[in-house]
Amino acid sequence: MIRSLVLSMVVCGIANAQAVRGEQVFVQSCSTGYCHGSRGVGAGAPRLAARGFDQNSIRATITNGVTGTSMPSFAKSLSRTDLAAVVNYVSALNGATATAAATAPVKLAPQAARGKALFSDAVKSFGRCATCHEAGGLGIAVAPPIHDVPLNAAALKALKTPRVVTATIAGESMPALVVAKKTGTITFYDLTMPPPVLRTEPPAEFTSREESTWKHSDVIGAYSDADLTPILTFLRAVK
Ligand code: HEC
Repeated sequence: MIRSLVLSMVVCGIANAQAVRGEQVFVQSCSTGYCHGSRGVGAGAPRLAARGFDQNSIRATITNGVTGTSMPSFAKSLSRTDLAAVVNYVSALNGATATAAATAPVKLAPQAARGKALFSDAVKSFGRCATCHEAGGLGIAVAPPIHDVPLNAAALKALKTPRVVTATIAGESMPALVVAKKTGTITFYDLTMPPPVLRTEPPAEFTSREESTWKHSDVIGAYSDADLTPILTFLRAVK
């Protein structure tokens, strides 16, 4: 691991000492085992790269952990300097989203621009649309690209979700969105709670049935109707 770390430092030409330390701490503490993967991409836990997380939410998550998940608090196990370095490293992995948004060619009218801000509103944390949808260069494409923009907020709240199934793995059932079936592996998002977690399992372990109790209206509860209307305007503008 040390050799590949040294190699990646040489290859990437990372000059800044804090950035180097941040990557080291990340490799040692965050990307191992069932966790966030090399450079914050892949593995079992949520992807961290290019998710549009801001630095405050990254710092809070690393410091406090996430209750009810396997994400621990690192407040005691990391020194203050290492904590700052890894927060900066994960923030840098998220710079990609800001660049994509900045170069998005579409000029938006005021209501659509407001909808765009609400779509990826950091205050709504994982309850924001950008947790599961990509539109106008923002967000993560968990769900397929939005084709049919609902007519209004009421229609959005009544949305049917035919692709969401109930998956069962080792006796445990969960709402799931299957993204790939290959010989030997099945890849799907576990939608139990936001953010969706990408999982890969051998097909023999995986059974599913069409119906699910998962409701799209439950995951957009952070928004009022007055928020949803400009978001729909934004989605129409960038479609
Ligand atoms: C936790 C994940 C999640 C969040 C948050 C979320 N969605 Fe979705 N959304 C989905 C999934 C999954 C589907 C696909 C369901 C299916 O096709 O069965 C979907 C489907 C849709 C569709 C239908 C697209 C089509 O072409 O049929 C629209 C429109 C939509 N979402 C809008 C939104 C908006 C607007 C927000 C924010 C207010 C939002 N979603 C938040 C997961 C999410």
